[in-house]
Amino acid sequence: MGVTLLSGCGSQQLLSIGDLSSGYNREVAFMSIFAIALSIIIFVGVSYALFFTVNKFREDKHTAEPAQFHGNNRLELILVVVPVIIVMFLAVLTVRSMAILNPVAETSTKIDVLGRQFWWNFSYPETKADAGGTVTNGNEMIMPIKQDVALTITSGDVIHGFWAPNVGGQRAAMPATLKTWNVDTDRAGVYQGNCSQLCGASHANMRYKVVALDQERYNTFLAAAKAYRAPEPAADSPEARGYAIFMQGKPATGALACAACHRVQGTPAAGAAGPDLSFFGTRRTLGAGMWEFMTEEHWETPRAKEILHAWIKHSPLVKPGSLMPTYDGSEYLASGKKVKGGVLTDEEIDDVAAYLRGLKLPEEANYWNDTPVYGSSDAAASDTAASVPAQTAKTTQPTPGGNQ
Ligand code: CUA
Repeated sequence: MGVTLLSGCGSQQLLSIGDLSSGYNREVAFMSIFAIALSIIIFVGVSYALFFTVNKFREDKHTAEPAQFHGNNRLELILVVVPVIIVMFLAVLTVRSMAILNPVAETSTKIDVLGRQFWWNFSYPETKADAGGTVTNGNEMIMPIKQDVALTITSGDVIHGFWAPNVGGQRAAMPATLKTWNVDTDRAGVYQGNCSQLCGASHANMRYKVVALDQERYNTFLAAAKAYRAPEPAADSPEARGYAIFMQGKPATGALACAACHRVQGTPAAGAAGPDLSFFGTRRTLGAGMWEFMTEEHWETPRAKEILHAWIKHSPLVKPGSLMPTYDGSEYLASGKKVKGGVLTDEEIDDVAAYLRGLKLPEEANYWNDTPVYGSSDAAASDTAASVPAQTAKTTQPTPGGNQ
């Protein structure tokens, strides 16, 4: 039923708990066979009993009142014992599956998941970067195949839900709570993940990609990510000007530094209020999966450049509830208060974008290369899924839902 329901609405990628490349899904499917078979038997049995009695004891005006009696011990016993057996059988099946799926092995690959309004960070706690800090990627989770991957989830604000059904079950991200569980898949590929708990204005725009790689490519990614230091831009290049604004902002107009909220590995930027941007140039999604650029050119396409520009300039306008400051002088919400954003010129915004596009992992560690996008019918066209509103509007979108 899940397969039928879920596959119908995927405008971008197939989400399915019926994806049997995941051991978790295989176990759930095995359990479901018994539950569904029992349900069918019960349905047929009850329907038969209903029609049988309605037919046999239907009112007949030509006979006298039917025999009156009270109680039927044998029937009552059956009606108690049979459901108890059914429920116990299902309970044993469920406990069996939980006992198989829940234990987290010491040797499992570990990934820490942080959900926030409205984005995700995925950290690799066992991999300390040479440049300091832990290897972390925003909104794109890289995991190895053919093994249990132990995810530990928490939230930085409200309750979110991690849900990438192709690799296993969902878990809620709760503030001040750590929960660990396993996901897995046998097939290398890119899978869609969504937030599954209503969490505010951009709940529907809180997506991510799970990129499952074979062990060798996963190791290559981790090794490159460990050694990574953001490339130093050439003097007087757009990237160098973008770097300066990224690190210091533009105090003359009150434009805030990106580095206050974002981390870029190997630079002084160590902010934690926003997603990690260390490998931004390698990523193919923007705004926590709100836009996808699933081609090799990704950021170099005119459409990607246009959206990235709009995103930096006035993020809450293109993504409701986004907590990024604005850079076109309009108001935005900071800690629940309306404040006026600083101003960057269009050229300066493009400089910042150029700097971001250059933050790339070495090509051999590019996890997108030759990784099939699972269940995608229109990968190339999917970057048109969400449109960018006109940039003329100067008002901030209302941001309901208790953004802080
Ligand atoms: Cu986070 Cu819905």
